Amino acid sequence: MKVTVVGAGNVGATCADVLAYREVANEIVLVDIKEGFAEGKALDIWQKAPIDLYDSRTIGATNDYSKSAGSDVVVITSGLPRKPGMSRDDLIGTNAGIVKSVTENVVKHSPNAIIIVVSNPLDVMTYQAHLTSKFPRTRVIGMAGILDTARYRAFLAEALNVSPKDIQAILMGGHGDTMVPLPRYTTVAGIPVTELIDKDKLNAILERTKVGGGELVKLMGTSAWYAPGSAAAQMVEAIVKDQRRVFPACIKLEGEYGINDCYLGVPVILGKNGVEKVIELDLNSEEKALLEASRKAVKEVMDVLQKLG
Ligand code: NAI
Ligand code: 2OP
Repeated sequence: MKVTVVGAGNVGATCADVLAYREVANEIVLVDIKEGFAEGKALDIWQKAPIDLYDSRTIGATNDYSKSAGSDVVVITSGLPRKPGMSRDDLIGTNAGIVKSVTENVVKHSPNAIIIVVSNPLDVMTYQAHLTSKFPRTRVIGMAGILDTARYRAFLAEALNVSPKDIQAILMGGHGDTMVPLPRYTTVAGIPVTELIDKDKLNAILERTKVGGGELVKLMGTSAWYAPGSAAAQMVEAIVKDQRRVFPACIKLEGEYGINDCYLGVPVILGKNGVEKVIELDLNSEEKALLEASRKAVKEVMDVLQKLG
């Protein structure tokens, strides 16, 4: 299996590193526009192989997509990250151009690939990659839900003083402050979370999750990479190994949840064909209203992209 990661920055290099040490693919290609950057990161990851005992080969390329030819999965992380005071949506002008040109190269060299978009604003960059590639919607997927859910699960594990392994949860909607948490579907080893934590504490965790990305930008001056890189790698693994894992992921909705022509995070089954199935939950009226607010927020940014042409 061959996997390409475009963007050898914080998220891309972390993703490639996880793919290598977990031996998700035997060939991993890192591509970046900065001269020598991807080659250097790839060499560093390869030189870690004798220490961490893996045999996945990672190579780098400066804007040379011929090295990525025939990739089964391509992860797009290229683009500017947020700086303090910026929203994800502030990145649209620059990142739309980057995602468009990268996707053109992906289509040319890896016409059968499944694309996983990470660049922000996530939902709209997934739209951009879908528009440019013209691939079926099941092969153009955005990563954000695994990350947002992981933040929620980590905060809950801390509050309940239990292992994060035992927290199961799902979040829906856009990757932004309008994301839709679903405490009704959150369990701790099968026990509904509402039986273990009081409402105010749970609400505080949900609010912290919604601004979880911003919390890290304030602390570090740029956005997160360890959890995002691992989250993208987990999606790649589900596809490459045809695991049929159930994850929240961004996909173009075509009637599911009563929504058309909008890119939103929803629970999906991920396997060898990309999104094998969109899972439709029976949302209550409060959850439906939150999802509608999220749809509106994403649609506004999709309209900005359309105006940019
Ligand atoms: P970074 O600045 O560390 O890395 C970005 C890399 O993209 C740089 O090395 C840059 O040279 C490269 N690049 C720029 N234009 C390119 C092009 N045309 N072709 C190839 N490479 C190009 O940024 P970081 O932290 O890795 O973040 C990357 C993106 O991922 C940002 O847009 C960020 O907002 C987003 N992100 C999304 C998350 C999500 O949950 N969906 C989570 C974290 C970050
Ligand atoms: C995050 O949530 C900035 O989208 C990025 O960390």
